[in-house]
Amino acid sequence: MPTISGLTDTLIVDKHLEDFNLESENIPTHVAIIMDGNGRWAKKRHLPRIMGHKSGTEAFRVAVKNCSRFGIKYLSVYAFSSENWKRPEDEVKFLMSLFKQLSINEVKNLNKNGARVKVLGDKEGLSEDLRKHMKSLEKQTEHNDVIQVNLLINYGSRREILDAIKTISKTLSKEEINDLTEKDVSNYLYTKDIPDPDLFIRTSGEYRISNFLLWQLSYAEFVFTDIFWPDFNLDELGKILQEYQSRHRRYGGL
Ligand code: FPP
Repeated sequence: MPTISGLTDTLIVDKHLEDFNLESENIPTHVAIIMDGNGRWAKKRHLPRIMGHKSGTEAFRVAVKNCSRFGIKYLSVYAFSSENWKRPEDEVKFLMSLFKQLSINEVKNLNKNGARVKVLGDKEGLSEDLRKHMKSLEKQTEHNDVIQVNLLINYGSRREILDAIKTISKTLSKEEINDLTEKDVSNYLYTKDIPDPDLFIRTSGEYRISNFLLWQLSYAEFVFTDIFWPDFNLDELGKILQEYQSRHRRYGGL
């Protein structure tokens, strides 16, 4: 059985569920997060914005570990939106170098946590060097099966849906398009083969979904928290999972 720090996965998950009084049968399979507030976290400390992103990277590392410890099987994080290119050049450069560093320095840790990484987004818009590193990160973690971490980089949901429409209209006949189901459409998205998120979290007190997984979040439970992303920790995740378990998901029924 795969182990995390010497204890079996099952024992570690049981302990975390018990600590937060959570029901094992009602843990979200897929959690999607907008990691917002790095800049404001830094500003509050009179630090440059990039320090917020650095601390945000540490919070990401911790979130992967903590999600796996609650038995969450998929974690999707919005690391860079297709709109984020509008930020100052220096900040964009820094974020791109951060993603590259992650692909080099984080492999050991991801493997330790049994985390398999998938990069989702418009990869053509990334530099060839970054594409190569992202591919290598996926390759080096592909054998892991405790949790799948989807890194959404250069991602925009409307664009993803538009691309799906274009592919469908180019490759399918009129009859096939007539018979198309919602499940079929899902298979044309970057998230093909990934179950839809059950829980959506946005940090930093902003109440928007900002072009993030618009199709996939249709039935997710939404939780917004005021804390800035670099402060997102085990306690915060545990509290959000308690909130999730207090909700009654009806999927449009009664
Ligand atoms: C939001 O903070 C965060 C981002 C733009 C995404 C980048 C996220 C990280 C660097 C976290 C680490 C994740 C990975 C995968 C390395 P913001 O700059 O929008 O904050 P603000 O709204 O306070 O300005």
